[in-house]
Amino acid sequence: MKEYKNVHVLNHPLICHKVAILRDENTGTKQFRELIEEITTLLTFESFNNVPTKTVKVKTPLEECEQQTVDGEIAIVPILRAGLGMVSGVHTLFPTAKVGHIGMYRDEQTLQPKEYYCKLPEGIEKMRVILLDPMLATGGSACDAIDLLKRRGCKDIKLMNVIGAPEGVERVAKAHPDVNVYIATLDRCLNENGYILPGLGDAGDRLFGTK
Ligand code: PRP
Ligand code: URA
Repeated sequence: MKEYKNVHVLNHPLICHKVAILRDENTGTKQFRELIEEITTLLTFESFNNVPTKTVKVKTPLEECEQQTVDGEIAIVPILRAGLGMVSGVHTLFPTAKVGHIGMYRDEQTLQPKEYYCKLPEGIEKMRVILLDPMLATGGSACDAIDLLKRRGCKDIKLMNVIGAPEGVERVAKAHPDVNVYIATLDRCLNENGYILPGLGDAGDRLFGTK
């Protein structure tokens, strides 16, 4: 796959270790949920590497000093259902982040995303938005969700995925070059049903035990 400036594949040994367990068909719902959460925290850490900071004054027990804190309010937006499993992973680092929800499912025949729900925090257009979905397959859901956020005025959007297929990564990278995409690991391709290979199966079903 071509390299894109706005795509960051982490491939960190610790993340690869966790993704290997996540993929295993014998990994149960509880551990799957915990791993998604942990990987998301690591993705969040990396994705805030270059975030603007502001200077604040802090009084230690010994003296007053100037310190740097992350500037601006943060909104987390999971794409339902599977994105929900990533929310707590961001909250671990940003406990006061607001949460919006975008409901989308892929039509099994056409693989086109269908939006069925949307509730976003007031003033989201001024916030740093983190869009969450563990799986970036064709990229249709992510592109539609980003389009929706942009129509609502959002200007600072990051997308976080656990697994990306080259097809989906390229689609988002080309359609939204202003959106930085953070992916734990890049997989080989999609199968004829639009599932990522080797992937991990259906992320929503594995998170919520629905199959
Ligand atoms: C999955 C996944 C993404 C989408 C990715 O959701 O969580 O939202 O598919 O596919 P795409 O890149 O081809 O759009 P799904 O539609 O299975 O809904 P669910 O999370 O409710 O199970
Ligand atoms: N959605 C999933 O949950 N898994 C895939 O492999 C593709 C889309």
